[in-house]
Amino acid sequence: MPIEELLQQNRDADLLRFTTAGSVDDGKSTLIGRLLSDSKCIYEDQLAAMERDSKKLNREEVDLALLMDGLKSEREQGITIDVAYRYFSTPRRRFVIADTPGHEQYTRNMVTGASTANLAIVLIDARNGVLTQSKRHGFIASLLGIPHVIVAVNKMDLVDYSEEVYEEIKEEYVNFMAKLDIRDLCYIPISALRGDNVVNPGDNMPWYKGATLLSHLESVYIASDRNLIDLRFPVQYVNRPNLDFRGYCGTVASGVIRPGDQVVAMPSGQTSRVKSIVSFDGDKEYAFPPESVTLCLEDERDISRGDMLCHPGNVPHMTREVEAMLVWMSETPFSLNKPYFIKHTTNTVRGSFKELSYRVNPNNLHREDADSLDLNEIGRVSLELFRPIMCDAYSRNHSTGSFVVIDLMSNSTVAAGMIIDREHARGVPEESAEPVSKNIHREAGLVSASDRERLLGHKPATIWLTGLSGSGKSTIGKDLEKRLVDEGVACYILDGDNVRHGLNRELGFSAQDRKENIRRIAEVARLFNEAGLVVVTAFISPYRDDREAARRIIGEDHFVEVFVDTPIELCEQRDPKGLYKRARSGEIGEFTGVTAPYEEPKEPQLRLPTGDLTVDAATEEIVAYLRQQGVIPQIG
Ligand code: ADX
Repeated sequence: MPIEELLQQNRDADLLRFTTAGSVDDGKSTLIGRLLSDSKCIYEDQLAAMERDSKKLNREEVDLALLMDGLKSEREQGITIDVAYRYFSTPRRRFVIADTPGHEQYTRNMVTGASTANLAIVLIDARNGVLTQSKRHGFIASLLGIPHVIVAVNKMDLVDYSEEVYEEIKEEYVNFMAKLDIRDLCYIPISALRGDNVVNPGDNMPWYKGATLLSHLESVYIASDRNLIDLRFPVQYVNRPNLDFRGYCGTVASGVIRPGDQVVAMPSGQTSRVKSIVSFDGDKEYAFPPESVTLCLEDERDISRGDMLCHPGNVPHMTREVEAMLVWMSETPFSLNKPYFIKHTTNTVRGSFKELSYRVNPNNLHREDADSLDLNEIGRVSLELFRPIMCDAYSRNHSTGSFVVIDLMSNSTVAAGMIIDREHARGVPEESAEPVSKNIHREAGLVSASDRERLLGHKPATIWLTGLSGSGKSTIGKDLEKRLVDEGVACYILDGDNVRHGLNRELGFSAQDRKENIRRIAEVARLFNEAGLVVVTAFISPYRDDREAARRIIGEDHFVEVFVDTPIELCEQRDPKGLYKRARSGEIGEFTGVTAPYEEPKEPQLRLPTGDLTVDAATEEIVAYLRQQGVIPQIG
């Protein structure tokens, strides 16, 4: 094949990042060496170097493990001591291997190597079967959200290529992995040393009918593994060679960005448009992860290292409190309340752990009470930061959802953390959760809903107004309440700022707190509806899921979702409480529309574009809807 064609093929092939995990002597380095040599990916000079080294160590043949010569000291000691990256390609795909060592520090390197991996190969020595470490590797792979896992049962040559031995190991591991969330899991019996089922099938295991390791690596489907939805561009460096050029350099962590896109810079909330995307190969029409590019914006903005560019309306959480799974990787145990450096995207912030909720036993995945985490242990923690970070759940975004913990004194990395989804965050009762006490029962009253309807002369309903701060929810809500009461309808308004003075006074504006805010309001509205009242609620209620939960609590029949649809520019212009201004200056965090998301209703019962409507007209629309639905009587 002409060299040009070969190079082109290489450029076109997609890229698979994988990592290997195994215990000491499971044969990782040999396996990788075998992959490289049998797929003819070793360069001549490497072969020569290997032969030289092998002789030095008095080994008989060329030792394939020596291919993994990321570090010289490793070659001399005969063990792997840090993550070594290797690149190779076949006509079908390009590969990056993060090789991680098999000695005590394996979690550190598995975590380091695996955070960007599409696939992990977990090696099990056929002679030893499933060890605690093998389970820990599977657990970490699932914790790290690695979508594809290959379990390679190695050293089959040392168990006479026995199908029974392989099947037994497979069954035990299948049972264990069933409890974990791995999208794609497959098993291959191999001998890395002899080459069976690595690149070529070989003749020793005719009973195995599956693909070889390489052909699996070449064909596993990875295109959908990336998050191309939520744009996150942590600014790594501001490039300002002269007065005419200002570019923001960084790696696209997720999402796709194009020239012309509107972007918001977090945490300041300043907006602009992308003028161009500059790269080594000239300007680009788009960029996606994990490309490193330089973005130029249309306006001069004060953006610096550590800021994050996102699309408005889809921004990460800005918070000082995170819940996370922590993999402890240091000989010095974890301490509560001790300050550490937390490195998150391009930011380093001080923080400390406030709580260790539990430790996970890797053998059975049970949660155990614990006061500390030792080397290689995994637990769930609450972390409090000195400054807010802009983060997402790890399950949604591996880059903005992870952090590393650095010891202040030694400056060494002691742990890696994966941020947990707000939906699963502790302390927030689910709307369908059972009461804590088992000794309570519902009491039925003697007054029925229709008794109350006869008494009041109308049906109950909850008019749920949702929209940005300053959109006009309270104004419309108060007007509506007055109109209805004047008409003889028993109506009462629940308003965000008021409820937050009493019932919800301990709640802030984190996604979790807003969820709880909305849940309690919905419960109160339901009680008022049961009492026969028409309830009007005026809460931003920015999350679709939370509004849907409110709908379920209140009941589909009584719930009327009204989207007070006011463009953010208008809300900001009105800024009745001066809050937008303060949010833009960074004084208020997690402000809806600026530094926290607002998810528009998809199918509200009513949409009120207040830009084109007077308060009167907006109220009238709601009243007309209630009449038409038979909640309140027709006139006349
Ligand atoms: S919600 O998101 O949980 O539904 P809610 O409607 O109760 O919010 O409260 C919103 C009101 O709190 C706003 O109208 C504004 O006056 C005030 N507020 C203070 N801080 C914030 C913030 N960070 N984001 C939104 N509103 C805020």
